[in-house]
Amino acid sequence: MQTSFERKSLDKVEAGALIVPVLEGAKEERFGAGDLLAAGEISGKPLELLLLHHVPGIAATRVLLAGAGKPEKFDPAEMRKLAGAAVRHLKSKSVKTIAMALDPEHAGADFASAAVEGAILGDYDPDRYKTDDDAKKSVDRFTVVAEAGDLEDAVARGRIVAEAQNFTRTLVNEPANLLTPSKVADAARSMAAEYQLECQVLDFQQMELLGMGALLGVARGSAEPPALIVIRYKPAEAKSPAHLGFVGKGVTFDSGGISIKPADGMEKMKYDMAGGAAVLGAMQAIAQLKPAIAVTAFIPCVENMPGSRAQRPGDIVTAMSGKTIEVINTDAEGRLILADALTYARKQGCTHLVDAATLTGAVVVALGHLNVGLFANDDAMRDRVLQAAKSAGERMWPLPLEDDYKEYLKSAFADLANVGGRWGGAITAAVFLKEFAEDTPWVHLDIAGAAWLDESKPYLAKGPTGLPVRTLVQLAMNWTG
Ligand code: BES
Ligand code: ZN
Ligand code: ZN
Repeated sequence: MQTSFERKSLDKVEAGALIVPVLEGAKEERFGAGDLLAAGEISGKPLELLLLHHVPGIAATRVLLAGAGKPEKFDPAEMRKLAGAAVRHLKSKSVKTIAMALDPEHAGADFASAAVEGAILGDYDPDRYKTDDDAKKSVDRFTVVAEAGDLEDAVARGRIVAEAQNFTRTLVNEPANLLTPSKVADAARSMAAEYQLECQVLDFQQMELLGMGALLGVARGSAEPPALIVIRYKPAEAKSPAHLGFVGKGVTFDSGGISIKPADGMEKMKYDMAGGAAVLGAMQAIAQLKPAIAVTAFIPCVENMPGSRAQRPGDIVTAMSGKTIEVINTDAEGRLILADALTYARKQGCTHLVDAATLTGAVVVALGHLNVGLFANDDAMRDRVLQAAKSAGERMWPLPLEDDYKEYLKSAFADLANVGGRWGGAITAAVFLKEFAEDTPWVHLDIAGAAWLDESKPYLAKGPTGLPVRTLVQLAMNWTG
């Protein structure tokens, strides 16, 4: 999809459709909306859509009146959804060229970026493996139009971020037979080459030399070799002494291992690398947006399988940090690979860490699919990430991370157990990771709920959402101090 900005009078815009946001209670008289509002055919409620043909005096072939909700609630996040819903509606009608009208009160850079993001995210469908090409529809061109201002850069930024997010969604949706740990490494290398990032992939032997017993224990059950992907972004001129580390869980398939999962729904476990894919997507955007802070990505990739050499419940492994772990449940594998990746990231000089992981079913029980579960060992770092999430329009909710929960992870035979029993599962998983983040300011994002949509939304297809790409990018872009 091509994107652009045009400054011109709205009635002169040439397009297959011109999207016109209509606020609730607004007295919109243009575009034939006056009569429709009076007749109650449209009220301006969020995501309400009404398609009009041949509106007199309008150059665009169609006008799509799109409910924008209450004026005081219409923010960039709502604009993103509105644009997404409008584009999905129009693309289903085979409209190829679309323009979005910004009214003067909502024509800031953040609204323009959000409109482009919504459009690109809405245009996306995970249909790569459908062979009926005629059924695949997509939009050719999306133009943001305002009567004043210069929103060229805002449109470009929105495009970079949304394309990075779609890159993540594509990776997450790849089936595990086609996207093994080695293939994730290939994807990382080619992305890095395209955007001039440094990329290094540690193999089994290198990880063994580093003593990554927790990560390698998980990898044992699969014939597919593990990989630890490292991608480095260095700013031309760093404005901060900080070095940000992003760590993403890259389990290309989670069968549970010997503690095997039930068959029902197991096919979804191809998305257990969504954290890793989000970190890759974030690096793609960061390479182009060039924040003034060093950022390094670490993506431990393994397949969790019950092969004949698989680790067993009761096995004790030694993590890179030196701590020993009793593996009570081989399905709690994410925290094992993240433990070593966090240690490695610290040793590589990262001063601040964020990890993203589809870590627990418990976080889905706690927060559903709407919020990412957020844990932090440092209040300032927590606030930075929450602030970034807020401006990126990705919802996150802080959950407790208190030392008292460590008791749940007691092992009779090792320093700690990899599971904490029945209760507070998302918390005990986070407490486990905290042992490896140690004193480095760190935020853990449990994205098991938010990374995947079980039902499509008007503005987003079913499947991978691409969270938390935008938050990670914002965090790097906003960094000061
Ligand atoms: N990948 C899963 C977490 C998960 C579960 C994500 C459901 C999405 C939906 C993780 O590796 C896992 O299996 N966690 C276990 C931990 C348990 C054994 C302590 C879980 O949540 O059931
Ligand atoms: Zn698991
Ligand atoms: Zn998992």
